[in-house]
Amino acid sequence: MADGEKIRILIVDDIADTRDNLAKLIGFEPDMEVAGTADGGQAAVNMAKKERPHVILMDINMPDMDGITATEIISNTVPESPIIMMSVQGEQDYLRRSMLAGAREFLVKPFSADELINAIRHVHELEKVKRARYAQAAPAAASPPGAVGAATPARDNGKIITFFSPKGGVGRTTIATNLAVALHQTTQKPVVLVDGSLPFGDIAVILNMSPKAKTIADLVGSFDNTDSDVLESVLVSHSTGIKVLLAPPTPESAELITGANVKHVLELLRERYAYIVVDTWPSFQEQVITMLDVADVVLTLMTLEITSLKNVRVFMEIAEKLGYDDHKLQLVANRNDSSGGIKASDVEASLGRKIPHTIVSDGRTLVLAVNRGVPFVISHRESQVAKDIFTLAQRLTADAPEAAAAGAQKTPARAGGMRLFAR
Ligand SMILES: Nc1ncnc2c1ncn2[C@@H]1O[C@H](COP(=O)(O)OP(=O)(O)O)[C@@H](O)[C@H]1O
Ligand SMILES: [Mg+2]
Repeated sequence: MADGEKIRILIVDDIADTRDNLAKLIGFEPDMEVAGTADGGQAAVNMAKKERPHVILMDINMPDMDGITATEIISNTVPESPIIMMSVQGEQDYLRRSMLAGAREFLVKPFSADELINAIRHVHELEKVKRARYAQAAPAAASPPGAVGAATPARDNGKIITFFSPKGGVGRTTIATNLAVALHQTTQKPVVLVDGSLPFGDIAVILNMSPKAKTIADLVGSFDNTDSDVLESVLVSHSTGIKVLLAPPTPESAELITGANVKHVLELLRERYAYIVVDTWPSFQEQVITMLDVADVVLTLMTLEITSLKNVRVFMEIAEKLGYDDHKLQLVANRNDSSGGIKASDVEASLGRKIPHTIVSDGRTLVLAVNRGVPFVISHRESQVAKDIFTLAQRLTADAPEAAAAGAQKTPARAGGMRLFAR
């Protein structure tokens, strides 16, 4: 969409007063306009196909076709129009189901004007990121076979495994650290762990490293002259046998590192290390996108909760447009058995994709390991959570990509999705 163009919104609600109120609130915003209104699900589907609005506000309870069914249809036929669900309190189950159907946000009625406007801006911003990335990814996808595009890294050297999650606190740093150690133990090959969470790195703390240790920030100003030997001089050796490239000590110094710098560093590491495990932070800044682009495998960590599912869905759409195939992007359900979540099979049906890797929840072991300052794959090797990490390591070291991605094939989204709503 062109700059300066207004955010065009489709309002769907069977109550005329509600439609009018929403239209009035939107009318107050100089950068928003109403693209149309619909009084039922079927009308919404037709209108969405015709108008292709930037954002759709969707009521759940409507007489003809309900909002959840309409959302399922629209998110498959007009995927570029993100949907915000609106529902009255006490309809938690509906909210859960609408997120599984493909809605991006939900608003519980009655909501304030601020909540409404913020939600619209938020989903619209995310959609813009997706489109911008698509525009950049398209030329690479169109390049002739054999050309090295963003999504097709060279495979002859070390393997880059990047941990990503669109949401914080899901266990990226914990799992990345333990996986790096497990890869080294399993293969006895050189492994480097990169703290790519540039502004918020905490691997130094987790691995008990000296606050005076060198970091990637020591290369700022000389990235262009950095070769393998120079890079080696800022890596820190850990007692577990792995090398670590630490994150800058302050967020300010992280800003001095560009996406191109990150690419240069990771490609140099590929020459000497068999496995390069990269931690990230939840962002779509250029540095993070680079860590994803150069990766052979992006392990996307999620927990089985609605909020996590929502963010992973958006990320998967971005990843698809970036040209990441099912082998490159692999889902990992962490804290798999923790209560209060949704079932893995429901999540798989909703995302139209298998979750090939799972890691159990074991807070007790993790706390004991952290207190000892030793990764749990060493201190609690026999625990289930450690076994799950070793299984992941084995799959990633298996030669055939098919074995590594066992079960990562697409499942038919529609069929699975429908089953979810069958009574
Ligand atoms: N499988 C697990 N079982 C129990 N707790 C976990 C598990 N994985 C991570 N955690 C805990 O979750 C918290 C967040 O983990 P962290 O690795 O810092 O997440 P992130 O890097 O994604 O922000 C930590 O307290 C960590 O110990
Ligand atoms: Mg972290």
